[in-house]
Amino acid sequence: MSRLQAEHLYKVFGRRPDDAVEKLRHGTDREELRAKGTTAAVIDASFTVEPGQIFVVMGLSGSGKSTLLRMLNGLSEPTAGQVLFDGQDLTKLSARELREVRSKKISMVFQHFALFPHRSVLENAAYGLEVQGLPRAEREKRALEALELAGLKGWEKSWPDELSGGMQQRVGLARALATDADLLLMDESFSALDPLIRRDMQDQLLELQKRLKKTIVFITHDLNEAMRLGDQIAVMRDGRIVQIGTSEDILVTPANDYVAAFTQDVDRSRVLTAGAIMADPDKDFVMADAPATVTEDTPIIELFTPCSTSGVAVAVTGADGKLVGVVPRARLLAVLGEPAPSEPQDAVVPAQQAKDNGGKNVGKVSSGA
Ligand SMILES: Nc1ncnc2c1ncn2[C@@H]1O[C@H](COP(=O)(O)OP(=O)(O)O)[C@@H](O)[C@H]1O
Ligand SMILES: [Mg+2]
Repeated sequence: MSRLQAEHLYKVFGRRPDDAVEKLRHGTDREELRAKGTTAAVIDASFTVEPGQIFVVMGLSGSGKSTLLRMLNGLSEPTAGQVLFDGQDLTKLSARELREVRSKKISMVFQHFALFPHRSVLENAAYGLEVQGLPRAEREKRALEALELAGLKGWEKSWPDELSGGMQQRVGLARALATDADLLLMDESFSALDPLIRRDMQDQLLELQKRLKKTIVFITHDLNEAMRLGDQIAVMRDGRIVQIGTSEDILVTPANDYVAAFTQDVDRSRVLTAGAIMADPDKDFVMADAPATVTEDTPIIELFTPCSTSGVAVAVTGADGKLVGVVPRARLLAVLGEPAPSEPQDAVVPAQQAKDNGGKNVGKVSSGA
């Protein structure tokens, strides 16, 4: 069973939201509604997140990311559609049941994490457990563990203003981890941090995730962050999810010109891996002749040197050391060029949107990085 499932979610702000959903379903344009003072913040969003995955939602400011996230933990009621968490429909729970799920099973980490200034770091990290009504000793034990996981061992007795911005953000992470929640919802949690600290936090999250295997929905407007963190990435534009895929999918086969424009500044050689671009070996391919043998997760930047010195393809092996594919020089060069034009994916690109994006008048889009 998927941990989290969004089915045809809509969120409309303004007058007569149900009417607006009906209109959207019948092809009315978002702009047309906007002109009448109605905002379609999320339009027909469907996706599933498997246990242990980091699912990234990426899009420019105003594309509907935060609204979508707030529906995932029941903070905001969908205008239409369903949210299933461990198979349970959040939209059908009573207010009390919802509070229970929210305090025990789902944790949220925001961009600007508000710490209580007159409480120690330990008390701040334990806050979610206090809300749950746990006894003090148990709270402190779990908060201590969480602080250690977040790299803040030794800072328990400090006050928030003694911590740097990055460390304060870690307290936020520790608070979320301390509750033992299965699902972490992170809304631009690293966006306010300096680039170096931000990268550090990304590494730390990936490291933590290897051990804790939480299910994480991570929101960002930064494509590079999305590519580093996401097992799956949903790209949002004007309230709609226009593509869902791995970072490789999005780079190699963007669903439309919009996604292609978004990704054009990404350093493909560092994001794409040998496993993502490899081809089937020829029948007469001999592994011993290959200029190099690499694993599937090797970034392709490491294949340039071997490919430049030999006409034979680089060999790619699986975890068991057996040959799983090859990367010939021509393939390497091809994936670094412009992405091949692809058919929009009907499943996630509504017809109208696909048509809009098919034209040549899509401007260059900043990746926000
Ligand atoms: N409570 C609200 N009332 C009215 N409009 C809202 C509300 N929350 C968000 N919006 C609008 O919905 C759209 C999506 O906003 P948001 O989800 O915050 O986008 P993002 O997080 O991607 O920047 C925006 O046009 C925003 O102005
Ligand atoms: Mg937002």
